[in-house]
Amino acid sequence: MRVEPAASLVGHVVVPGDKSISHRAVLIGALGEGETGVHGFGRAGDTQATVEGVRALGVEVEDVADDDLVVHGVGLRGLRAATVDCGNSGTLMRLLAGVVAGQEGEFTLTGDDSLSTRPMERIAAPLRQMGANIETTDGHAPLVIGGSAALRGIEVEPDVASAQVKSAILLAGLNAERPTTVVERIPTRDHTELMLEAAGAHIRRSSSSVTVEPSGALRLDEVVVPGDFSSAAPLLVAAALVPGSDLTLHDLGVNPRRTGLLAVLERMGARVSVFDRRRVGGEPVASVQVQPGELVATEIEAAEVPALVDELPLVALLASHARGETRVAGARELRVKETDRIEAVTDGLRPLGARIHSRDDGWTVTGVPARLRGGRVDARGDHRIAMLGAVAGLASREGVAIEGADTAAISFPGFYELLESVTRR
Ligand code: S3P
Repeated sequence: MRVEPAASLVGHVVVPGDKSISHRAVLIGALGEGETGVHGFGRAGDTQATVEGVRALGVEVEDVADDDLVVHGVGLRGLRAATVDCGNSGTLMRLLAGVVAGQEGEFTLTGDDSLSTRPMERIAAPLRQMGANIETTDGHAPLVIGGSAALRGIEVEPDVASAQVKSAILLAGLNAERPTTVVERIPTRDHTELMLEAAGAHIRRSSSSVTVEPSGALRLDEVVVPGDFSSAAPLLVAAALVPGSDLTLHDLGVNPRRTGLLAVLERMGARVSVFDRRRVGGEPVASVQVQPGELVATEIEAAEVPALVDELPLVALLASHARGETRVAGARELRVKETDRIEAVTDGLRPLGARIHSRDDGWTVTGVPARLRGGRVDARGDHRIAMLGAVAGLASREGVAIEGADTAAISFPGFYELLESVTRR
């Protein structure tokens, strides 16, 4: 796939439903009583793995439409033991481990080559502390989770700021004796706690912790999934980079724990406006308009990372067009995403003409306000790197060829078509 340079990006668009919320709607719907309608479901490779996963565990899921599902819940302890292929999805594997930790029978969770290299002790250790029987394969998938563990609530502060780890513990806590508390000094996305609250679970929150009480029964009824901010991000960044652009995304999830990129875009000098703010279900939704500006370098530290963790590759691209030296630090987690995103971004952007250096926990990027030359980007099987290559192509002088472009469908089928629909040449 080749993406040629753009003259501008102009228009009004809607992106598919949020991936994080779609996974959770299916998983929590499966644990509920009765039916959960999921509207605006973000159907993609990862979320489809979740649908197939709960089906394997005995949950009926009706496909009403591509973006509309009905999940027939089996209750908090009603899942049937099975092997689940989590595909490429870390969110599925980690959240599902928490879901099945307090169920009867032996569950095996497997994943593709990329997922099988990702760290799983970070969920296995706290789940064991709760009394779960969980074995990893040298710290990785496959995971074998067995027995009818009588879980007990714990208070725990995970070593890494990770919504996946927090969510695994909270979901296990539903079936535990006594409350379960996760302490987090740096807040991560809170979709799990918002959705559990909507389903009737007793959740207590403070600025640095979240507690779930053992739950009697959950009932979710309906989930309306907002547009995925992380899927919108490549479009927003392309509009910030290409002169003359004016792009507006509607019905977009703008949960403040996800929208760190908007703050970064603004302080780098892009023009951002957020309007038509409202709540849909428990989640904030709005329209977001982005226009280019004269970009300047910025600094990103650990405290800001969870709110834009999946957008950091795009920040590196922004930085290479922004006057001065940008430093991204505190983002070591990028090394254990679908690929080592620190090296994938450096190796991807440098041949295009970017002055970027990897650090242990991020990058330094020296930017100049000019288009990159262009060239070739290897997606390395990582959807976010493929989309980064496409945005780099639009903002380049000569275009970018993306190797393995198809992997974008892991989170965003139709990405290239939507991008093309707003691109003027
Ligand atoms: C996700 C959390 C993030 C993010 C991932 C989705 C989630 O991972 O990178 O794409 O849905 O909880 P970590 O919480 O492990 O950083």
